[in-house]
Amino acid sequence: MNIDLAVVPVAGRGTRLLPLTKSQPKEMLPVGRKPVVQYVVEELARCGMKRILFVTGPGKTAIENHFDIDAELITYLRESGKEEYLAHLSFEREDIEYFYVRQRRQLGLGHAVLCARRFVNGQCFVVALGDSILGLHERSRIVEVMIERFNATAAAAVINFEEVATEEIGEYGVALPKQQNAEVFELLDIVEKPDPERAPSNLAVAGRYVFSPVIFDALTETPLGKGGEIQLTDAIRQLIREGRKVIGVRMPPNERRYDIGHFESYFRAVVEFALADEQLGHRLRRYFGVEITNTPMK
Ligand code: UTP
Repeated sequence: MNIDLAVVPVAGRGTRLLPLTKSQPKEMLPVGRKPVVQYVVEELARCGMKRILFVTGPGKTAIENHFDIDAELITYLRESGKEEYLAHLSFEREDIEYFYVRQRRQLGLGHAVLCARRFVNGQCFVVALGDSILGLHERSRIVEVMIERFNATAAAAVINFEEVATEEIGEYGVALPKQQNAEVFELLDIVEKPDPERAPSNLAVAGRYVFSPVIFDALTETPLGKGGEIQLTDAIRQLIREGRKVIGVRMPPNERRYDIGHFESYFRAVVEFALADEQLGHRLRRYFGVEITNTPMK
C-alpha cells in the first residue's frame, strides 16, 4: 500500500519551554540553520510523503507562513543581488501539498490526531511529531522502514522507539516488547509516562507512527488520561487489547531523536547541530575544544 499522507501535530502550547514559546511556536524554534518543523517536513518528503496535514492551534500561523512560497522575498533577493540566499528557500519547492486543520481545544496529542479524521478519510497515514527531529549524522529514513513493516505485517500501527536512560523514561510512552533486543518487535503493551521504577522497558516512543484508520475508533473511545489529555498512547494500548497487531521498530544506532519539548533536549540539539554545521562547525569545535567524528547531516 502506498502511504503518502502525514499528519503533523503542532498545536501544543509548549509550556515546558516558556517563556521561549509565549508568542512563537516551539516547532519554529531554531536548531542549526532551520526551524525544527522544517527538518520534520524534509524527512517526510525523503520518505515519500506528498501531502502533509498540520494540526495547528492558536499562535501557530508562523508555521503556515514558513511553508508558503514567498514570491516577494524571492523577487527582493533577485533584484538586490542577493541570489546566493535563494538556495536557502529551496525547501519551499518540495513536492508536497500542505493542508491545515485547527485543534480548537488543546486536549493532548491523541485529540490532535483525532482532529485529522475527516481529512484522512479512511486512509492509512503517518504521524510525525512537529517538535521532534530525527537524524543529525544520518538523514533518517525510518518512516520508509516503518511503512514497509506496516505493509508486510498488516499491522494496525507501527511505532518507532529509541532506548533512553532510566531517568528520562517517565517522559514518554514506553513499550512492553514481546521479543527483547529485536530490531522489530510486537508490542504486548504500551504505557504513557510510567514511573521509571515500574517502566516495562527503556524503549520510548520516538515521535513517528504509521496508523491504519482504526486508530480513530480507538481515540474516540479513549477517556482523558495523564494530564487530563487524550493520550495517543492510551489509544494504541486499546488497539493491543482488542487483539490488533502493533509493531515497534527500533531507531538505528547511528540515528538519534531530538525532542525539542523541554530545555535539556532542546539545548542538546542546539549545541550538536551547531557543532555539526558544515560551514562553521569546525570553527566552533576548535573554539570549544571538542571533536565529532561523523559526517553531519545537511
Ligand atoms: P507535547 O505533549 O510535547 O507538546 O506534544 P505540548 O503539549 O506543547 O507540551 P507542554 O507539556 O505544553 O510543554 C508533542 C507534539 O504534539 C503536539 C505538539 O505541538 C508537539 O508537536 N500537540 C500536543 C498538539 O498538536 N496538540 C496537543 O494538544 C498537544
